[in-house]
Amino acid sequence: MAGLVLDQVRKSFGRTEVLRGIDLDVAPGEMVVVVGASGCGKSTLLRLVAGLEQPSSGRIMLDGEDITARDPAARDIAMVFQHYALYPHMSVFDNMAYGLKVRRLPRAEIAARVEEAAQMLHISPLLGRKPRELSGGQRQRVAIGRAVVRKPRLFLFDEPLSSLDARLRTSMRAEIKRLQRRLGVTSLYVTHDQHEAMSLGDRILVLNEGRPAQLGPPMEIYARPADTAVAELIGDPPMNLLPGWLDANGRVRLETGDTGHGRPVLVGIRPEDVAGGHPDGDGLVLRFTPDTVEPMGAEVLLVGRLDTGAAFSVRTLPASFALGSRLDFHCPAQRLHLFDPGSGQRIGPAGPVAR
Ligand SMILES: Nc1ncnc2c1ncn2[C@@H]1O[C@H](COP(=O)(O)OP(=O)(O)OP(=O)(O)O)[C@@H](O)[C@H]1O
Ligand SMILES: [Mg+2]
Repeated sequence: MAGLVLDQVRKSFGRTEVLRGIDLDVAPGEMVVVVGASGCGKSTLLRLVAGLEQPSSGRIMLDGEDITARDPAARDIAMVFQHYALYPHMSVFDNMAYGLKVRRLPRAEIAARVEEAAQMLHISPLLGRKPRELSGGQRQRVAIGRAVVRKPRLFLFDEPLSSLDARLRTSMRAEIKRLQRRLGVTSLYVTHDQHEAMSLGDRILVLNEGRPAQLGPPMEIYARPADTAVAELIGDPPMNLLPGWLDANGRVRLETGDTGHGRPVLVGIRPEDVAGGHPDGDGLVLRFTPDTVEPMGAEVLLVGRLDTGAAFSVRTLPASFALGSRLDFHCPAQRLHLFDPGSGQRIGPAGPVAR
């Protein structure tokens, strides 16, 4: 199997197991984004693939070869970190050329590769400058350029954009995507930013406490989160999760204090899946009292409580909302997500019927 394959990779530091059995297949040329909360093991996973740490067990294969025990320098992998360290006394050109000089590539070949990468990254006019004469975004581009010129078999990115401001982050992530597509280099990209994960990933791997919670295309993860941890991580603002009941006819009710009939569930409702008024067909009526309005640009976020007492948020078009007064909203039945309250796992492939 070509590409990158992780086979039951585990890693413990002392008695703490940080990665608990990771299976992953990254196809040749594919970009998989690893996303998860701080401390869930994302950087550790990249460091294992780069060879900076050894797994406690399991295998890592690249383009069909077992590289688990191979020296980092012999893996032909390029890594870009959050805190890129450029050589301050060297020009941009020399920073990008350094790895190729070490490999004793011919001078003309080095120059050609650096110039090609600089053009792709729009830093050709900066090749003569020193790092201190560059903005943060330009420096990050040089760091990416340094990885790109090597034409490695695999790119590893560990939160390369997190030190940049929001606007630059958005434009840089578009550039990284274009570049990765154009070069066709298999890539693993770590972030805790769900927007970055959604826009960059051919597929997303959600890690939760060192375990893979879900692996799939971004829209599939958004549409069918495998458990409550994924549901809360992917989606902005996060999905509302409310205690409720699923009866034998597949109908869903929110818990109102009295004991319901059927099976207890957690009902997941995305703030953007809520509409005003009552449903035409099947849908869950939500009696909601907003107490704050947060502008989000084209939309607003209403934050408040349902009549059941549960905290709730609604993302909707701006209008004059009477804060503190009850409003009727609803969520169409096919937009409801159901989870087991014990395990947090998603329930049932079929959409539930709401009442
Ligand atoms: N060398 C080490 N020795 C001991 N524990 C470590 C070591 N490296 C990482 N850990 C622990 O492993 C866990 C995972 O760390 P890791 O850096 O992989 O998390 P992360 O998902 O990258 O987090 P962040 O989003 O904050 O960067 C953490 O609890 C961390 O404290
Ligand atoms: Mg990290």
